[in-house]
Amino acid sequence: MTAALLSTIAEVRQAAAKARRGGAAVGLVPTMGALHAGHGALIEKARGECGFTVVSVFVNPIQFDRGDDYERYPRTLAADREFCGGLGVDAVFAPGMEEMYPRPQLTFVEVPALSAGLCGAFRPGHFRGVATVVAKLLHIVQPDRAYFGEKDAQQLAVIERMVSDLNLPVTIVPVPTVREADGLALSSRNRRLSAQEREAAPLLYRALLAAAEAIQGGCSSGEAVKRNALAVLDGEPRIRVEYLEVVDPGTLEPAAAITGPVRVLVAAWLGETRLIDNLLCAPGH
Ligand code: PAF
Repeated sequence: MTAALLSTIAEVRQAAAKARRGGAAVGLVPTMGALHAGHGALIEKARGECGFTVVSVFVNPIQFDRGDDYERYPRTLAADREFCGGLGVDAVFAPGMEEMYPRPQLTFVEVPALSAGLCGAFRPGHFRGVATVVAKLLHIVQPDRAYFGEKDAQQLAVIERMVSDLNLPVTIVPVPTVREADGLALSSRNRRLSAQEREAAPLLYRALLAAAEAIQGGCSSGEAVKRNALAVLDGEPRIRVEYLEVVDPGTLEPAAAITGPVRVLVAAWLGETRLIDNLLCAPGH
């Protein structure tokens, strides 16, 4: 079964408004398509909590800092609709460029303090593009709840803060990262990995586990934890680390001294593919 396909703002607004009038909570799962089991977890959570679930599929050009990345991003709408249909999604909202950006976008949403570091330092304009398109989607669908993966922890922090600062009437629901059996976090980008790169990729999670273990074991220096985690990746020529940081989970500022839970985040290149992952780590007592 394929899910109903809506491609205009008017259609999805109407469908969501009708569901709301009928007493259903509306859930939105914003995606860029190429859906996998990680998205499946977001959808299942939405389906469990909302009477009407919309999955948006839109590869948002303004969040790509590299044109080739945008061009190469997988576009699999027919399969995505099947996937959504199988999970009981009520509607797939897949607008075209003309629908989302009929004119050059002159208005942007920015959360600079949470966007400057980590991925933001390497992907200029990325979080501005994400915040702007998510604000647009929230205004278009007007969901009661919107679902985002913890794998994109910085994105989640930016969106939560945007929603709070702008008093948007929506609850943001974080959903835990889904992993392959070997620990690799699911991502639409994994399908770009060569067999050799795929073999090396789970090391990223192992590095995060090494950080978690050090913190659990009482290491309270952010720098030492970082060194510990980086040691796991050292000597693996297929992985080029972009950053690995230990940060305060709320502010995303580096945590020099670890006195409570911290988030350890990593971004790395495997060939032409950039992967990210993170883990919330708490000291043992
Ligand atoms: O996480 C994503 O897939 C995208 O950044 C999002 C939230 C759908 C915005 O384009």
